[in-house]
Amino acid sequence: MTKMWKEIFQQPEALKSCIETNERAVREIADALNEADISSVVIAARGTSDHAAVYGKYIIEYKLGIPVALAAPSIFTAYKGTLKMKNCLVAAISQSGEAEDVLEVIKAANSQGAITLGITNFVDSPIAKECRFHLFTNAGVEQSVAATKTFTTQLASIAQLVAHWSGDENLAKMLKTIPENVSKVLCQKEAVITKVQRYRYMEECFVLARGINYSISLEAALKIQETNYVRAKGYATSDFHHGPFAMVEKDMPVIVFAPEGPSLKDVKEMTDKLISVGAEVIIVSNNDEICEMGNVSFKIPKTENDMISPFYNVVLAQMFACQLSLAKGLDPDRPRGLNKVTITR
Ligand code: AGP
Repeated sequence: MTKMWKEIFQQPEALKSCIETNERAVREIADALNEADISSVVIAARGTSDHAAVYGKYIIEYKLGIPVALAAPSIFTAYKGTLKMKNCLVAAISQSGEAEDVLEVIKAANSQGAITLGITNFVDSPIAKECRFHLFTNAGVEQSVAATKTFTTQLASIAQLVAHWSGDENLAKMLKTIPENVSKVLCQKEAVITKVQRYRYMEECFVLARGINYSISLEAALKIQETNYVRAKGYATSDFHHGPFAMVEKDMPVIVFAPEGPSLKDVKEMTDKLISVGAEVIIVSNNDEICEMGNVSFKIPKTENDMISPFYNVVLAQMFACQLSLAKGLDPDRPRGLNKVTITR
């Protein structure tokens, strides 16, 4: 069994540990943020962790109405510049906690007296030590180059903090149901193994979603790129309408995340458009009607809250990427030219 597949299946346990571990810390951080009356947030991250930051942008802006900027760490490193961050929450998300350019953002924020928060999988990492607050994802060591359990636990840490920061007890309660529902997604392993065979010669694809699941279209595309060498590109459907749609050709695979909720109407319209030009549409949804529209489809559990479906969509995408890699005769644990920890400055 590959390390990636093994770690995908560790997610129910990892999510449970993460949520339990941070129960106290999220309350303490939420109190500090409410007391400081934070009016803007800056998040710095790279790669998969940056996709968790995109999730963070949507959930914080939606639940708290606080604008979130995704930092460009190069402003601090390559350009030797800085940002005015005195009254901000400045968060760094990094599996390893070693991302050097991300750390520079935190150092600048600390020097200005901002509230800093690190979300990492290592309590003694440079980022964890530099930040005033830390959320430990507690996913266990991740050996696979392709991040899986550390991504979903980053999402859980962010959502748990937002639930307490915004005082949304229902969201906090719903987060506790995620591990069990992720297990239900994992039960689809046979379906994934069978259905990916159809795509073993795939060389390019698009991955689309809208709203909070935009983060998952980016992350699913990255998982497919690094484990399959497929030119996969993630978009929000709202952007895809504005030009990229012209690239779609007959039989081109397009993965569409279409959970029930505020994004469904637009995603369904995009799906109609894709079908009209003969694209090969792969639907991931908890809505029967849209599932039937796909050439291939995968079911995820029902969700009452749009902030929760990203967990299920991404687990399905991780399984898809891992099994597609194997179907192509590749080794998802040895992506060419990549290491587990990538440092950019
Ligand atoms: C994840 O699948 C990638 N291998 C990569 O993007 C990784 O997430 C990135 O290098 C960020 O690392 P960090 O979270 O340890 O800072």
